[in-house]
Amino acid sequence: MGTVFKESAIRSGLVSQRQMAKVVDKIGAEDDALIAATLVKSGLLTEYQAQQLHTGRTKLTLGPYLITDWIGQGGMGQVFKAVHKVMGRECAVKVLPLEKSTALSRDSFTREIRLQAGLDCPFVVRAYDAGRDGNVHYLVTEYVPGTDLRKLVRRGGPLSMNHAALVISQAARGLQYAHDLGLVHRDVKPGNILVTPEGHAKVSDIGLAAWSMGLDDDPRAGKIVGTADYLSPEQIRNPRAIGPASDLYSLGCTLYYTVTGKVPFPGGDSKSKCKRHCEQTPWHPRKFAPDLSEDFVDTIADMMEKDPSRRIATATEVAERLEIWCTTSFEVDRPIERQAWTAPPIGMDDGQEFGTSGADGPAVIGSGQYSSGLQGSSQQGSGNPGSKVGMVPSDSSMPLVLDQPVDPSMPRERRKPFPVGFVVGLMLGIVLGALTALYCVREYFTQQ
Ligand SMILES: Nc1ncnc2c1ncn2[C@@H]1O[C@H](COP(=O)(O)OP(=O)(O)O)[C@@H](O)[C@H]1O
Ligand SMILES: [Mg+2]
Repeated sequence: MGTVFKESAIRSGLVSQRQMAKVVDKIGAEDDALIAATLVKSGLLTEYQAQQLHTGRTKLTLGPYLITDWIGQGGMGQVFKAVHKVMGRECAVKVLPLEKSTALSRDSFTREIRLQAGLDCPFVVRAYDAGRDGNVHYLVTEYVPGTDLRKLVRRGGPLSMNHAALVISQAARGLQYAHDLGLVHRDVKPGNILVTPEGHAKVSDIGLAAWSMGLDDDPRAGKIVGTADYLSPEQIRNPRAIGPASDLYSLGCTLYYTVTGKVPFPGGDSKSKCKRHCEQTPWHPRKFAPDLSEDFVDTIADMMEKDPSRRIATATEVAERLEIWCTTSFEVDRPIERQAWTAPPIGMDDGQEFGTSGADGPAVIGSGQYSSGLQGSSQQGSGNPGSKVGMVPSDSSMPLVLDQPVDPSMPRERRKPFPVGFVVGLMLGIVLGALTALYCVREYFTQQ
């Protein structure tokens, strides 16, 4: 017996008085749980909506969108599944919460909306609409069923070379599309690559961290935007000097994570990660995935080249290099299931999750070069301590912890071919020398 649910359901507008009376009549009881279950079964409510109504929440709309489910928590805000009340189209709605609604975040949001609105590529998440409901700003994008690459790896372990190549090459195609339009993503990471159950991959959040090259009205120009685990060395040294190549470095780190299940520089704080991006090479990927071929490892290494001028040149080239591992059909190795986010197990360090929110969104930190010390005020990443650049301690004199031993056989330090000619020559020399010595000794004794 209870009334909260019934009252909320009617007040929310999701269920009419008549519909409610019919259900109560049908089940012959006033039991909230039973009424809710019946309404869910009949398709009038979703499980999520019923849950919310039980708690007394009645506002389940954002502008003309009806919230049907909760998808996840990101660095910027929550993401919901929704349906347009009139058009009936399913979509994803990203909300900018009130407490984070600063002038800077609103500007970023408006920028994302404008940029995304102009993108039309099968490998990029499409933007449909944007709006404001009271003080809440929201962005409506295409809903991509499935999961993101980070969750895929966390739940099922590293992907095979074929599966990884399939996902990353599509992401590369999406990035090339953006690069051709003069956009740099700046926050390429596994969490921003959405993968459908059919194996179709799409890059998300392009507008969130992207900025138009050459536009100097970008409120974030000159600030580091990105997640420490995937930041390129040039992005760390001088955030103004980034270009499409920076996305390729981040995509290389993403590929490394996809096939090994490890970020390239695990452990340590963001400052330490940044230093290692600039100065060290990661463990050889075969340490974690022994079956990776030499060519595959070389492709990762060429994407993660520290010097942008020596890095693999374009996203198209990345896609082409990965093509030989792409299976013809979009067959995936494992079933994909979307679930609500769960808190990561404590102590598990894939380098991305330290907080309880599970968010790994972009961090915006104070401007300035890495060498001059990063400032610690994060505008957006405050919900996720640890892995964000925004959480870098402001004390630039703090010693940098280098807890990552350097493996001599890391990607860039490729093994030199075995010097067969030299060894054969040396052995011939030794044999000839020995024969000559023997001959001399023999001559000496015959002359005696
Ligand atoms: N368009 C979408 N369709 C389906 N799921 C999405 C979409 N956009 C984001 N998500 C899901 O919501 C989660 C949070 O997204 P987001 O706010 O972009 O996180 P982040 O700030 O870490 O990039 C993502 O990990 C993803 O699984
Ligand atoms: Mg995202």
